[in-house]
Amino acid sequence: MKVTVAKVKDVPKGKMIQVQVNGKDILLANVDGTIYAIENICSHAGGFLHEGCLDGSTVECPLHAAQFSVTTGKVSDDTPWAHDQPSYPVTIVGDDVCVEVSR
Ligand code: FES
Repeated sequence: MKVTVAKVKDVPKGKMIQVQVNGKDILLANVDGTIYAIENICSHAGGFLHEGCLDGSTVECPLHAAQFSVTTGKVSDDTPWAHDQPSYPVTIVGDDVCVEVSR
C-alpha cells in the first residue's frame, strides 16, 4: 500500500524527518537528493532515529549510538547490539513523497 507522507521540500538534502504511516513510525532521510525510508524506532531500545545524527547515508541512534544505513536499514557491524531496521520503498510522485508499507 503506497501512502503519501510528505512533500519533497519537507526533507531537504542531509536532513531527516519522522512520519507516521498506518501506525508505523518511519524515518525519512535525504541522502544527496534521494529520499529513503526506514523504521524510525531503534531495534535496540526504542530510540527515535530522527533525533539522531545523519552522516552521509548513516544514521546514529541518539540513545546508545547504534548506526544504521538509511538506504537499506542494515545495522553497522560496529554496533552489533542493535538489529537491522525494516526499510520501505519510496517513490516521488510530483512533489509528493510516497512510502510503500504493508498493512
Ligand atoms: S536505543 Fe538505539 S542504540 Fe540503544
